[in-house]
Amino acid sequence: MTAQTTEETTEQATGKAAGTTTSFVPGPLDRTAPFYVAGHRGLVGSAIWRKLQAEGFTDLIGATSAELDLKDREAVFAFFARTKPRYVVLAAAKVGGILANNTYPVDFLSDNLRIQVNVLDAALAHGVERVLFLGSSCIYPKLADQPLKEEYLLTGHLEPTNDAYAIAKIAGILQIQAVRRQYGLPWISAMPTNLYGPGDNFSPTGSHVLPAMIRRYEVARLTGAESVTNWGTGTPLREFLHVDDMADACLHLLEHYDGDQHVNVGTGTDLTIKDLAHQVAAAVGYQGRIEWDTTKPDGTPRKLMDVTKLTNAGWTARIPLAEGLRTTVDWYRQHQDGIRQ
Ligand SMILES: NC(=O)c1ccc[n+]([C@@H]2O[C@H](COP(=O)([O-])OP(=O)(O)OC[C@H]3O[C@@H](n4cnc5c(N)ncnc54)[C@H](OP(=O)(O)O)[C@@H]3O)[C@@H](O)[C@H]2O)c1
Repeated sequence: MTAQTTEETTEQATGKAAGTTTSFVPGPLDRTAPFYVAGHRGLVGSAIWRKLQAEGFTDLIGATSAELDLKDREAVFAFFARTKPRYVVLAAAKVGGILANNTYPVDFLSDNLRIQVNVLDAALAHGVERVLFLGSSCIYPKLADQPLKEEYLLTGHLEPTNDAYAIAKIAGILQIQAVRRQYGLPWISAMPTNLYGPGDNFSPTGSHVLPAMIRRYEVARLTGAESVTNWGTGTPLREFLHVDDMADACLHLLEHYDGDQHVNVGTGTDLTIKDLAHQVAAAVGYQGRIEWDTTKPDGTPRKLMDVTKLTNAGWTARIPLAEGLRTTVDWYRQHQDGIRQ
């Protein structure tokens, strides 16, 4: 197939000339329109898929990385030509913890840039009406004030352990803004805080703090361990959003938000890692001692999103942490065999 890449064909596809304002009309998306969720098997993508199904969307499109490698530009353009999505959420990315980001920075930069550029270019060439690009809180400068406001983007140096990933995500935000400026399409970006929930990565090496704790406390309960030792002092503050809330926020933004600036998605509240450890222990039913190895590093003292913009757009988180932890533990217990390693 021939990919549409010239400005002329893109303008025909979008029906928009360069420099026009966006054509956004707030309100429900068409439940019968083809809707592509890129990364629909991941933590975020699968939650968005469930949400869209529950909301009555009847033409959901997904492809695994084995079926469609989003790094393959020609394949991505052919996929868009065949499926003709009207809406796209880009929740596909190479994602990992500090260790993976720090060890494989070129992969995190190059893979993510290619995935984004291919999907967004194909979406533009095919005149996709609404696109939601997902980034992450690591886009903000390492020493930015807390809570993190959207306007802090590009005001300082990034955290070096994940700067390659962050630069790819920042490029994605810029690409969305550039499409808006040049073609007037009402595309948007959202930056989630730490997410957790069904479908999370519980692997001992690749997981984030919350799923790693669930695994550790569950193993301790099953083996009857007298104590569990956590890294650091337990004093750093972190924010956690259930992925079903995230999916709800994504649909809300697609139906109600139009703006150049990306939108932070979080709860707006944080807790200490120590509090989290006690809540996780309670959720799995572990009754042993909780200890701290203070010779290990703590990481950033605080990481909290400012969610004023999201609140002003009419959305707030609903799932309390204790409830979210309970259902995540249930999911983990039911999916022991199929979890990612
Ligand atoms: N998890 C969090 O706490 C968190 C926080 C903030 C932001 N985010 C953002 O949310 C987005 C999704 O994250 P996630 O946690 O859902 O990640 P995830 O669970 O690892 O899922 C990533 C998805 O991307 C797909 N993918 C990766 N490389 C691909 C490729 N080359 N071709 C096609 N598909 C590919 C995978 O498809 P297959 O399964 O088919 O291989 C997978 O379904 C990312 O942009 C991330 O930055 C996540």
